[in-house]
Amino acid sequence: MTLALVQAKEPELVYLARLSTQSLDSTLGLDALKGYLNQGALFTLFKDAQPIGFLVQKIVLEEAELIQILVDPLYCGQGFANAALALWHQSVRDLGVCQIFLEVRQSNVPAVALYQRLGYRSVGIRKNYYRYADGLVDAWVMSLNFLPSIDSSKL
Ligand SMILES: CC(C)(COP(=O)(O)OP(=O)(O)OC[C@H]1O[C@@H](n2cnc3c(N)ncnc32)[C@H](O)[C@@H]1OP(=O)(O)O)[C@@H](O)C(=O)NCCC(=O)NCCS
Repeated sequence: MTLALVQAKEPELVYLARLSTQSLDSTLGLDALKGYLNQGALFTLFKDAQPIGFLVQKIVLEEAELIQILVDPLYCGQGFANAALALWHQSVRDLGVCQIFLEVRQSNVPAVALYQRLGYRSVGIRKNYYRYADGLVDAWVMSLNFLPSIDSSKL
């Protein structure tokens, strides 16, 4: 089995948009995904030749934002998001990115656990950031820093 994160192409869009609109944790519809595809910011996650999810990124100089990662519920819990992020981290590091930011609903247990497992730490809170049928909910701002930490005792 091979896993690959590849710049998305038009024929994948309908499937990716269906995944996205079925998820409580994605607000991206077909038009938004198409916009990201045109910017080269949308990546399809393939398990062998089968698309099983996607990732949207934004990169400005040395900072990247993980706008969305989503794995088809049929394939969740098998380590695919973890592996996809490992691939993505390597690709953004190769582009000179030093720090990644993301926002995640505080009650999104799988996503928060995924990010913590990969070394992301909470660096802030956005109050009332997401709107759901039952009200507004807060988000964590999380960050992963690729720079080696400085040992202040050696300064
Ligand atoms: C969050 C999401 C991408 C995880 O994808 P996944 O492929 O199932 O994740 P993985 O199988 O790679 O799991 C990696 C780690 O995430 C955490 N995790 C995944 N599913 C979990 C669950 N149901 N409960 C708790 N932790 C979970 C665990 O730490 C897991 O590591 P472990 O298996 O060693 O314990 C997936 O649930 C998803 O697409 N959710 C909807 C969209 C979304 O919420 N995206 C994030 C928006 S910020």
